[in-house]
Amino acid sequence: MIQSGTTRRTLGLGAAMTLAAGLAQAAPDAASYPALMQGNGCTSCHSISEKIVGPAFQSVAQKYAGDKDAVASLMQSIQNGSRGKWGRIPMPPHANLSQAELKELATWVMTQRP
Ligand code: HEC
Repeated sequence: MIQSGTTRRTLGLGAAMTLAAGLAQAAPDAASYPALMQGNGCTSCHSISEKIVGPAFQSVAQKYAGDKDAVASLMQSIQNGSRGKWGRIPMPPHANLSQAELKELATWVMTQRP
C-alpha cells in the first residue's frame, strides 16, 4: 500500500512537471521577465507584447525610443506611480524599490523593442 502511494505521487509530480514545461513553451514570453518584475507584481498588469491593465512593455519602449531621458523618467513613473500618459487607469506607486532596482526595471523595459 505504502509503495503504491509513493508511485502515484511520483507519477503525479512527473505529470505536473511535464505540464509546466508545456506551458512555458506555449508562452515563450513568460521565462524572459526579470525576477524583480515577477516578484513585484508588475506582470499582473503588464506583459511584453499585450496591453493588460497597463501598456505592453514593447509599446512603452517604442513610445520613448528617441528620448534620452527615458530610463530616468520611467524610473520616476514606476516609483511614484503614473497617470494620464496611457489612458484613464493610473499605475500605483512602488515606493519599496531601490534606485538600483528601479533602474534595472526601467532599463529592461526600454530594451523591449518589438
Ligand atoms: C495595478 C496595475 C499595475 C501594476 C502592478 C504595475 N503597473 Fe505599470 N502601469 C500600469 C498602468 C495602468 C500604466 C499607465 C499609466 C498612465 O497612463 O500614466 C502603467 C505604466 C507603466 C509604465 C510607463 C510609464 C510612463 O511613464 O509612460 C512603465 C514603464 C511601467 N508601468 C512599469 C511597471 C513596472 C516595472 C511595474 C512593477 C514594479 C509595474 N509597472 C506595475 C499599471 C500597473
